[in-house]
Amino acid sequence: MQQITITTPDDWHLHFRDGDMLGETVPATARCFSRAIVMPNLVPPVVNAQLASAYKSRILAARPQGSQFEPLMTLFLTNKTTTQDIIDAKQSGVVAAKLYPAGATTNSAQAVSGIEALYPVFEEMQKQGLLLLVHGEVTEHHIDIFDREKEFIDQYMLKIVAAFPELKVVFEHITTSDAADFVMSSTNNVAATITPQHLLLNRNDMLVGGVRPHNYCLPVLKRSTHQQALRKVVASGSSKFFLGTDSAPHAKHAKENACGCAGCYSAWSALELYAQVFDELDALDKLEGFASFHGADFYGVPRNTTTLTLVKDSWVVPESVTLPSGEAMVPFFAGKTVDWKLV
Ligand code: NCD
Ligand code: ZN
Repeated sequence: MQQITITTPDDWHLHFRDGDMLGETVPATARCFSRAIVMPNLVPPVVNAQLASAYKSRILAARPQGSQFEPLMTLFLTNKTTTQDIIDAKQSGVVAAKLYPAGATTNSAQAVSGIEALYPVFEEMQKQGLLLLVHGEVTEHHIDIFDREKEFIDQYMLKIVAAFPELKVVFEHITTSDAADFVMSSTNNVAATITPQHLLLNRNDMLVGGVRPHNYCLPVLKRSTHQQALRKVVASGSSKFFLGTDSAPHAKHAKENACGCAGCYSAWSALELYAQVFDELDALDKLEGFASFHGADFYGVPRNTTTLTLVKDSWVVPESVTLPSGEAMVPFFAGKTVDWKLV
């Protein structure tokens, strides 16, 4: 049996949700991650320091006994966000702000339309040292869903990084070779997170032999050539790419629906699935950088000092988990075998 011990990782892109759901999601992440960047797309969204602090307290209260897990809070940018909101956020310990183009994804109706209007806010973020986290997809109806990430790079991303060279920008959950190339060719102030599903799967896994709603997330899975490009950049060990699960829980009935929600609830297996991918790529020596170093270094926070161990030993992800509300939820990779296990 093979095993690997790495510095305890962090999850640089995560959806905890709120209320009862925290009883499920916080322990699931705290089981293996030391910190997580908590996405602000609640209903209503986390648009200011006060809401972020209150949300942080609710997350801390849901930690398992003795857990040192630390949530890192983010602000949801809207057309009403002011430079004062950024100053207040920085002061209260918020580390980043998330740009969702309006309508791009789950709970983003209140997000930004007319991204240039936010340039004064980006300017203040650059000054305050708050990171800009970007959901990089355009939302125009006439643009094909499979082209929306590339189109966002061409229309917005190139301009944003050129206008704010000192602003740290994370291109979240990248899904295409175009995004990987863009990040690779950008300055050291531009990095990207990559999810387990975009490394493990391509659009065939969502559409061949029937629609598989539990593999539906946004940005949507792309063709295999893009998946291969993502696998190549993580295997390269480049410090511009780091772990962000985008674990995004939705109740079973909301996923298995005529209009199913986007999001894969991967917290139960994400770290193990990343290990599986790096193993398949013969790049297990690059897992620690991706999972535990690159993100902390980019955010400018200390690396964790504890370790955890994974062994090559197979187990099966449960078909369903029961939420504190009594509702069922289907975790990502449900009923499938994972090759690596957390000790
Ligand atoms: C996320 C969610 O459900 O909040 N869904 C998803 O498919 N990734 C939102 C997001 O990160 O786009
Ligand atoms: Zn997300």
